[in-house]
Amino acid sequence: MPTRIIHFSDPQIVPAGEMNYDIDPQARLKLCIDAILSHTSDVDACFITGDLTHWGETKAYTVLKQELDRLPFPVYMMMGNHDHRQSFLSVFNDHPVCDQGFIQYALDMPCGRFICLDTLDKGKRGGILCEQRLVWLEGELNSTSEPVYLFMHHPPFDVGLPNMDKDKLANSDEFLKVIKPHKHRIRHIFFGHLHRSVSGSWQGVSYSCPPSPVHQTPLELENAKPGYVSPEPPVYQLVDIHNDSDGDRVVVHSHHFLHDAPAINSRTCYRYQKPAKPE
Ligand SMILES: [Fe+2]
Ligand SMILES: [Fe+2]
Repeated sequence: MPTRIIHFSDPQIVPAGEMNYDIDPQARLKLCIDAILSHTSDVDACFITGDLTHWGETKAYTVLKQELDRLPFPVYMMMGNHDHRQSFLSVFNDHPVCDQGFIQYALDMPCGRFICLDTLDKGKRGGILCEQRLVWLEGELNSTSEPVYLFMHHPPFDVGLPNMDKDKLANSDEFLKVIKPHKHRIRHIFFGHLHRSVSGSWQGVSYSCPPSPVHQTPLELENAKPGYVSPEPPVYQLVDIHNDSDGDRVVVHSHHFLHDAPAINSRTCYRYQKPAKPE
């Protein structure tokens, strides 16, 4: 059996009844949770890579908790630039934190160690991993010989979207220095912040970033200030991590959960038949 997780990012929840970018984020999250509950099974845990709320208010985290409490498996969260650690912890008071008070933690799963990082740089849109957080990361990497999976809000490199690249992890060189000796066993990096689907590899390590459950970043590769958000569909991702005799693989599925058209029955629907004699 693979380790099966749900990954989504940037739900940017606001207090109940409020709208943001003409969208009701709570209603969107509700639909996302409904879809996860009806379309998935055998899920080990859910990971939300930051920007949990839009302005970090306690009452927004309360709304988030109300929806996430419907999930029958553990939910692990990270801080994004829109988050506030103390408000988050006032609502999610049993969520893991590290000794220094950052929302950083490591989880030993059947497929290896999941390391979740806190890249929040208070008051800034971009991210940071300060000395304390990097030392903690180094300790978690050094204390296992198992495969490692990293989770964080800010991408540690440019993806070619100028309005987002300026706010990536500010000290990615220092981050790279810490992970470099362990790169051969870092199997995947999960991040958010971009509000659009981006995947590939960096330094030989695969990565994925899902679109947000709410508003999306437009595909504007030349324009650093597009001045609009994209209505592209929201997504959560179901990830199967295999680490068995068949060899290791990380498979990332995207579910566009607003697509609620009736399913097409492949047995009863009209299908164009193969001509008897090809022309
Ligand atoms: Fe965001
Ligand atoms: Fe962000």
